[in-house]
Amino acid sequence: MKAVILVGGLGTRLRPLTCKTPKPMIPMVNQPFIEWMLLRLREQGVTEVILAVQYLAERFRETLGDGSRLEMKLHIVEEPEPRGTAGAVKNVEHLLDGPTFVLNGDVMTDLDLKAMLDFHREKQAKVTISLTPVEDPTQFGLVEMDRQNRVQRFLEKPRPEDITSDLINAGTYIIEPEIFRYVPPNEFYMFERGLFPVVLQTGDPMYGFPSRAYWTDIGKPQTYIDVHHDVLIGKVKYKFLGRQIADRIWLEGDAEIHPSAQVVGPVVIGPGTVIQRGARVIGPTVLGARCVIGPECNIEGAVLWENNRLDEGVVLRNCVLGKNNVIGERTHITDGAIVSDDCSLGAENRLERGIRIWPGTALGERAISF
Ligand code: GDD
Ligand code: MG
Repeated sequence: MKAVILVGGLGTRLRPLTCKTPKPMIPMVNQPFIEWMLLRLREQGVTEVILAVQYLAERFRETLGDGSRLEMKLHIVEEPEPRGTAGAVKNVEHLLDGPTFVLNGDVMTDLDLKAMLDFHREKQAKVTISLTPVEDPTQFGLVEMDRQNRVQRFLEKPRPEDITSDLINAGTYIIEPEIFRYVPPNEFYMFERGLFPVVLQTGDPMYGFPSRAYWTDIGKPQTYIDVHHDVLIGKVKYKFLGRQIADRIWLEGDAEIHPSAQVVGPVVIGPGTVIQRGARVIGPTVLGARCVIGPECNIEGAVLWENNRLDEGVVLRNCVLGKNNVIGERTHITDGAIVSDDCSLGAENRLERGIRIWPGTALGERAISF
C-alpha cells in the first residue's frame, strides 16, 4: 500500500525552530521527524511514500533522496502553490492506485495502521479517519459518529458551544482513490472544511477509527518538549538510534564523558558529544551530535540539536536549543525557553518563561536578567 504524507505547512507555531528547518525535518530524538515517520510506515508494510511538500523541497531531497537509504520508494512532489490538505493529495492523484494512507506530517503517534486497514476493509469504507480523544477539541477537527462508527458530522476547529464529543480527527486517513473525484483540480481545497463535509452529503461510507494509541500534534513549542519527554520515558513505541550503554542511556557513535560527570537516564547522546568535568545531565534529555557540555553544567529535561557549546556552569532546564549555539558561562535557560540556531549568548544571561530567541542572535554578558 502507498501513503501520502502532508508536509506543506509553514510550522509558524513552532517558530523560531522552523525558521530554517521545515517542521517535518526538525529533529525528534536526533532524527528528522519525517524520517521517523517513514521508518514507522515501512515497519507496517508501506514501502512507497509520496511527500506532498510546499516549500524547501530541496531540504527534503538533500536528506531523504529517493528513499533508497531507508529502503523505500519516495516521491517528493512540490505544489505550484499551496493546495490545502485535500488539494495536495489531488495533485499527486496520478501516483495512487488503491486505498491509500494519508497522514498529517506533524503528528507523533504509534497508531496500529494494520488494524486500521482491517477496520477499513471490514466496514467497506471509502474513507476511514483515525480518531483520538483530547481534552480540548477546539484546536482540532471534531468528529461525531453513530453506533456503528459511521461519521455523522465533521467540524473543524469547533467553538466551545459546539463540542459534543472528545474524539477528534487524529490526522491519519485511509482513502479510496475514487473519492478524489470530488476534489476540484488545481485549487486550494481542504479535507477538513471541503471533502469530508461533501462526503457526508454524497453518502459514501465514511467511518471513524478511534484509538488509544499515543498521539500528539508536535506543532507547538511546549508539545515539542513534552513529546521528547514522553518518548524518552517510554510512553511511545520508539526505536532509539545508537546503543544502550547504561540504564536508559543511549549513545550514538562515540562520546567522551568525563569520569566525574553524572548522567542519569533517560538520556540520548549524539555522536561526537563531549561531557566535561562535573557536569550533570539528567533525563529526560537529548543531546545532539557534536555538543560540548562544559564543566559543572547542569542539564535537565532539555532538547539540544547538534553542535552546541556550553561554557562552564550553564544551566538548562525544560528548554530547547537549536543548532550551532554558543552559551556563555553560568547562563540559565529554563521553563520552555527556545534558542534557535547560530546564536551566541554571553555569560550570566537568564532566559525563562517560554522566551524565544531568533536565529543568529548575539547577546552580551548579562544582557537579559531577572
Ligand atoms: N502539501 C500541503 N499543502 N500540506 C499542507 C497544506 C498544503 O496546502 N496545508 C497543511 N498541510 C499539512 C501540514 O504540514 C500538516 O502536516 C497537515 O497538513 C495538517 O495541517 P496543520 O496546519 O498542522 O493543521 P492543524 O494541526 O491545525 O489541524 C489538522 O490536524 C489536526 C490533528 O493534528 C486537521 O486535520 C484537524 O482536523 C486535526 O484534528
Ligand atoms: Mg497540526
